[in-house]
Amino acid sequence: MKPAPLLRAAAVLAAATLSTVALLPAAAGAAEPVKIGLIAPFSGSFADYGKQMEGGIKAYQKVHGDSVAGRKVTVILKDTTGPVPEVAKRLAQELVVRDKVDILAGFGLTPEALAVAPVADQARKPMVIMNAASSVITTKSSYITRVSMTLPQVSAPMAAWAVKNKLRKVVTLVADYAPGIDAETAFKTNFIGGGGQVVESIRVPLRNPEFAPFIQRIKDARPEAVFLFLPAGEQGVAFMKGFRERGLADAGIRVIATGDLTDDHVLPAMGDATLGVITSFHYSMAHDSPENKAFLKAFAETNPGAGRPNFMAVAAYDGMAAIYEAIRRNGGSTDADKMMAAFKGMKLASPRGPIYIDPATRDVVQTVYIRRVEKVGGELQNVEFDKFPEVKDSGK
Ligand code: PHB
Repeated sequence: MKPAPLLRAAAVLAAATLSTVALLPAAAGAAEPVKIGLIAPFSGSFADYGKQMEGGIKAYQKVHGDSVAGRKVTVILKDTTGPVPEVAKRLAQELVVRDKVDILAGFGLTPEALAVAPVADQARKPMVIMNAASSVITTKSSYITRVSMTLPQVSAPMAAWAVKNKLRKVVTLVADYAPGIDAETAFKTNFIGGGGQVVESIRVPLRNPEFAPFIQRIKDARPEAVFLFLPAGEQGVAFMKGFRERGLADAGIRVIATGDLTDDHVLPAMGDATLGVITSFHYSMAHDSPENKAFLKAFAETNPGAGRPNFMAVAAYDGMAAIYEAIRRNGGSTDADKMMAAFKGMKLASPRGPIYIDPATRDVVQTVYIRRVEKVGGELQNVEFDKFPEVKDSGK
């Protein structure tokens, strides 16, 4: 039976409506929002990582606006409660499939970044690392770039400084997971290569380390200094407390470390026990530059009551700068291959100083500063006094 004329007209109308709907996304494509899925811990003992990144993003959008190339930029925050790699992976899958994000970003902890790498690779989504710092991460997919740092990148200069300053006998203590092993390896290679001696290498658990027995081992080994990598945050506070209480400072043992230890956010809570601690790192909030002043001002305005920003806030700020710039260069497109091409070799004027993305490795190249904890205007600060320009990751 033929459909009645009226029904046929309705069917045509429906088809017409459908094709209009189908055409709409293409026609309105330029104005569709860019969606960034930010994966990081926002609760648990690493909650500050997510908060710092969120704070850095707010600061960036305050200074540079919330749209680029005519597209609004929205950020969807996802809490891994980390370190929980399985949760990070599930969140990444949800962001890709359900939220249809264009870009995955964040990643405070190496195990979470490693868990998400295959998702980004298969879904062909750019993955912008804003902290996770073991060297190997960027080798896991050609869609990964890193704007933060790597542990070999900051640890090798610390060893060079120790050699130059005639330290001869050192104990190393690192968190027992990929970034810690990277730090230990880079420090030992460069320190021993420069004539130094590492008398003991201690590895402590990533989760809730109990430092007392390890601190005693350092004391018993009687080194001139201990070289440390601990993930930024509460662990550094606990270590420095034990170090002071067990009399290691009084025994003349010095602390040298990557700047994760004296991270600007927790430094006030570490107190005067940190005065004189030497660290190597890519960012200090005491860095004197117009870009850093603008960043600090925007962070304070957009994050009232959040305390001081640290290197993770800066990496998120720079990660947004890289994303905006890639979209701008591609005329509003978030096509993954085009974005990766734009990242390669990209130069940015970061609050930390000039940085660029190595086109061969997609890892950040930057100045590594040697800093000393001092009081500036009554506040503890990481004061830069020496530097190694254009340092690449040496871990791959
Ligand atoms: C990491 O898990 O890669 C990591 C975490 C905290 C840091 C540095 C690296 O301070």
